[in-house]
Amino acid sequence: MMIAYIICTVLAILPILLYLRNPYFFGDLNYAISALRIGMRMSKLKKKFVSILDCFLDKVAKHPHKKFIIFEGTSYTYSQADKESNKVARALSTHAHLMAGDTVALFVENEPQYVWVWLALAKLGCVAALLNHNIRSRSLLHCFSCCDAKALIVGAELRGAVEEVLPSLRQQGIRVFILSEHCDVEGIDSLSDKIQQASDQPLSPELRANMNLKTPALYIYTSGTTGLPKAAVINHERVWLSSFLQCIAGVRSNDVIYIYLPLYHSSGFLMGLCGAIDRGITVVLRRKFSASNFWNDCRKYNVTVIQYIGEVMRYLCNTPKRENEMDHKVRVAVGNGIRGDTWTEFLKRFGNIRICECYGATEGNVGFVNYVGKIGAIGREHFLYKMSNPYAFIRYDTEKEEPVRDSKGFCIEVPKGETGLLVGKIGKQSLFTGYAKNKQQTEKKKLKDVFVKGDVYFNSGDLLRVDNEGFVYFQDRIGDTFRWKGENVATTEVADILLTVDFVEEANVYGVKVPGHEGRIGMAALKLKENMDFDGKAIYQHVKSYLPSYARPRFIRIQDALAVTGTFKQLKVKLAEEGFNPTIIKNRLFFLEDKGYVPMTSEIFNAIEEGTLRL
Ligand SMILES: *[C@@H]1O[C@H](CO)[C@@H](O)[C@H](O)[C@H]1NC(C)=O
Repeated sequence: MMIAYIICTVLAILPILLYLRNPYFFGDLNYAISALRIGMRMSKLKKKFVSILDCFLDKVAKHPHKKFIIFEGTSYTYSQADKESNKVARALSTHAHLMAGDTVALFVENEPQYVWVWLALAKLGCVAALLNHNIRSRSLLHCFSCCDAKALIVGAELRGAVEEVLPSLRQQGIRVFILSEHCDVEGIDSLSDKIQQASDQPLSPELRANMNLKTPALYIYTSGTTGLPKAAVINHERVWLSSFLQCIAGVRSNDVIYIYLPLYHSSGFLMGLCGAIDRGITVVLRRKFSASNFWNDCRKYNVTVIQYIGEVMRYLCNTPKRENEMDHKVRVAVGNGIRGDTWTEFLKRFGNIRICECYGATEGNVGFVNYVGKIGAIGREHFLYKMSNPYAFIRYDTEKEEPVRDSKGFCIEVPKGETGLLVGKIGKQSLFTGYAKNKQQTEKKKLKDVFVKGDVYFNSGDLLRVDNEGFVYFQDRIGDTFRWKGENVATTEVADILLTVDFVEEANVYGVKVPGHEGRIGMAALKLKENMDFDGKAIYQHVKSYLPSYARPRFIRIQDALAVTGTFKQLKVKLAEEGFNPTIIKNRLFFLEDKGYVPMTSEIFNAIEEGTLRL
């Protein structure tokens, strides 16, 4: 009797003791359980491969009449989506003569057809290349050809952008299909009419029989570090691992997720859509983000899970206060890039929502999840994760722009609390699949002889810091990219465009911080050609036609000579720190307004500082 009583008491107070020792004990335990479950599922997948498409077909069989996608007021059940995609697959197989293993590029905005076409391609055993629908001309052609795509499928709204590059596509013998019923442009075939005529009978699984975890499933574009966008090879293993994020975030089968992030990025597509298929839930799909409709949509469709990027959370916090703003069913938010102050404000305004902040790169082999909701952290270290996915934070020299090496030539791990460069060990468990047809860039992301001769690590390019409790904080991004409005901007790509302007001799592009904004906004230091003057209108026309809005330099600084390092690398850090204050910087400065570049003034500068001028 006595012993039983003691055992009960111990069991009752054990949780309290554990909590006092480590307030995150239960969060850690929960994470460990999810991680083990995921590990078990992965080892099962290794023995008997199934793809995310098979998972979708499973859900179709399990709950055919459950809503799969809701878009602009219309809903489509799992079964309808299945049938629609059968029709698309049959139309494509007949008219585009696709074979298993072929790559097809998708240039479509967020809409249900995006999903049907992708499912159709998966049913045919084809690989989908998800093109960013903001890109144009040279970038578009580049993205298209670097994945060796055989055909291009275009959304009806994007016809103009494709017509621009059509001669080039035709030269390469590419078939172009548009999602409309008619098209009178020579070289573009209508697809919607062909889909309507096709049968909705299932396709033979034989078509996609030769697949395993390592076969490419998708190409997703990333600006990585330098140059034009690169096609990251996403194999089935990566698709699964990203989909499991919803499981870690605690998403359940009766949840409803709101997807407004572009489906061409890994957040929207892998973590959002594929994750939703894994959970078998309903997706409320939106063409693009709208701050004023956000909560109305959530209320209307009983949304319980949202995805975010930091900028979106700030836009939501900046909307005028309303009485009913706590009146919604959202309980989980999964995403990345939310700042501590926005996080606090968001919870205060919109109620008790579990924010699950994550960190990871599309092509990277290491990531973190802040599963306990510690404000400001991008993730939390966990020994189970580190065991299966070894990584390290190494000392980095920001002046020389390279890792610090000791006398033996090896890298040095930083102690807790110090900022270091995150590198993920490339091994059997954590592969780095690299970029399609770009060996040079793939090699560039690898760091060799890190701790022992012959080891290879993936260089994340991110400087992070881990505190004593194991929380990971983002510090900075190194090298030649910066993030603005949730997009990576490759500085060399922007510089290449600027260099084609007739009066520009040299260009150095970098990102500058602005108060109240995440990331960095683009700025360029230019050296002009002799005897030529800066023409704000001309350069604007050029920038506007060749760069998406998030990549256009908002500030331009004219210098007589651009500073370079001993190895002729351009100096960016110092310029970025100097910023764009016209009272401090003695060079001529220009600011991009609606219609062109105008001279920078203290009024403009102050308005930006005070937040009255929104960038
Ligand atoms: C949302 O939930 C309410 C109450 O549970 C229900 O009456 C309503 O029909 C639901 N709306 C949708 C679009 O599912």
